[in-house]
Amino acid sequence: MRVLVDGDRGYVGAVLVPYLQAQGHEVVGLDIGWYDGCDFGPQPEDYEQRTGDIRDVRPDDLGGFDAVIHLAAISNDPIGHLHPEATYSVNAHGAVQMAKAAKAAGVTRFLFSSSCSLYGAAGDSAVAESAAFNPVTPYGESKAMAEAGLTALADDDFSPTYLRNATAYGSSPRFRADIVVNNLTGTAFTQGSVRLQSDGSPWRPLVHVEDISRAFAALLEAPREVVHDQAFNVGRDEDVVQIRTIAEQVSEITGAPVTFAAGAGPDARNYQVDFTKIGRLIPAFSPGWTIPRGIEEIWKDAHDRGLTTEDFEGPRYVRLQRIQHLARQGRLDLAELRMRPAA
Ligand SMILES: NC(=O)c1ccc[n+]([C@@H]2O[C@H](COP(=O)([O-])OP(=O)(O)OC[C@H]3O[C@@H](n4cnc5c(N)ncnc54)[C@H](O)[C@@H]3O)[C@@H](O)[C@H]2O)c1
Repeated sequence: MRVLVDGDRGYVGAVLVPYLQAQGHEVVGLDIGWYDGCDFGPQPEDYEQRTGDIRDVRPDDLGGFDAVIHLAAISNDPIGHLHPEATYSVNAHGAVQMAKAAKAAGVTRFLFSSSCSLYGAAGDSAVAESAAFNPVTPYGESKAMAEAGLTALADDDFSPTYLRNATAYGSSPRFRADIVVNNLTGTAFTQGSVRLQSDGSPWRPLVHVEDISRAFAALLEAPREVVHDQAFNVGRDEDVVQIRTIAEQVSEITGAPVTFAAGAGPDARNYQVDFTKIGRLIPAFSPGWTIPRGIEEIWKDAHDRGLTTEDFEGPRYVRLQRIQHLARQGRLDLAELRMRPAA
């Protein structure tokens, strides 16, 4: 298939693009370039990379594609909290506008990178796709708003699919330090200890970034009637774990002791997710990673690629810091989360 992947120059995109290419798909990227230069190893190449804001895309830009994979977003809570309105503008209205442009251009498949965070405060039982949305952050809300807007576009000619990804982990050419497994492993490497910011009791669903890529590829190729206007939780039941379990696994693999930050208490985000639907309906999806293997991968790459404390804690790998850095340089309008034209 000929596939447009937006957000291709971020954490997931830098793993997804080569994965799709290896499956024989032709990929074109579209990204505003917030993380250009923030490299952790060699970047994917050999594909057309367009630079632009998804909010400016018109149907003419999307002619000739079989599918759009929509990753571009404000992709975590701390940035979402900065400017909720701008987050809705990119994550909800931007997603719907992309889908409208794709539909007008005759693209039939639209795979949306949603998040389990739209379940929010979900109580004690594992939530399946039919559960009510109860987002507790602007980021989670923006994903719920986007799905509502996209489902309204579904018809005989247009099939949106919602991948509600668990929290990702694992190495990527665009590494992220602000997600839990990566953070705990990177802290073990840079500080020599596994520092927990909470008491470690909350549950988190996790998924390796390459397994997210496998899910996109499997859903892209699945029969249309199976994925039409359908949501899929993306992860593995085995990888819904308490944060202290991750910390213990990191400690075991790296030899660094677990420590608790001063005043560490429970954390409000705490939820468990049911991943049976994707396994049942999409047999081609076969996740290949476990959390301990992911920790080993990050630990090895940290050594081989020379992860420094400065990069790990700064704008290179922490999304909020990067956004604030671009704003300080005058390159990004924070209120709109729009890049300014180069002077
Ligand atoms: N990483 C996770 O744990 C996780 C979990 C669940 C869902 N997701 C979702 O998956 C998607 C990809 O996440 P990621 O971790 O790769 O995020 P990321 O922040 O690493 O990358 C996002 C990319 O989108 C681009 N972008 C942002 N706004 C844009 C705009 N207006 N126009 C064009 N490009 C724009 C950025 O430049 C960046 O390259 C996001 O939609 C995110 O919400 C991520």
